[in-house]
Amino acid sequence: MKATWKLADGREMTLDVAEGQSLMEAATQRGVPGIIGECGGSMSCATCHVVVDAAWADRAGEAGPFEEDMLDITEAGRQPTSRLSCQLKMTPELDGIAVSVPQA
Ligand code: FES
Repeated sequence: MKATWKLADGREMTLDVAEGQSLMEAATQRGVPGIIGECGGSMSCATCHVVVDAAWADRAGEAGPFEEDMLDITEAGRQPTSRLSCQLKMTPELDGIAVSVPQA
């Protein structure tokens, strides 16, 4: 399955993401600029913030309550479809998802 990260400088990176793997894990393993994943996915750093493309927002689902709190303190500022990418796990339904990496 694949996901595309749109970088702050206008470039795009499309990577293979295994089912069940988070977009944060896939991005940090392959060095997507701007995705740090400092806390390892425990929702305590917000350095994995992405903005889900509007077309994918429904399928990506909504942030849980704790994720909501973290999104409020992201460095780049929250947008309507902001998510913590450590909480976005790849599923067949999300194959092809596109997200933007906000400029920090
Ligand atoms: S990796 Fe820290 S909040 Fe997602």
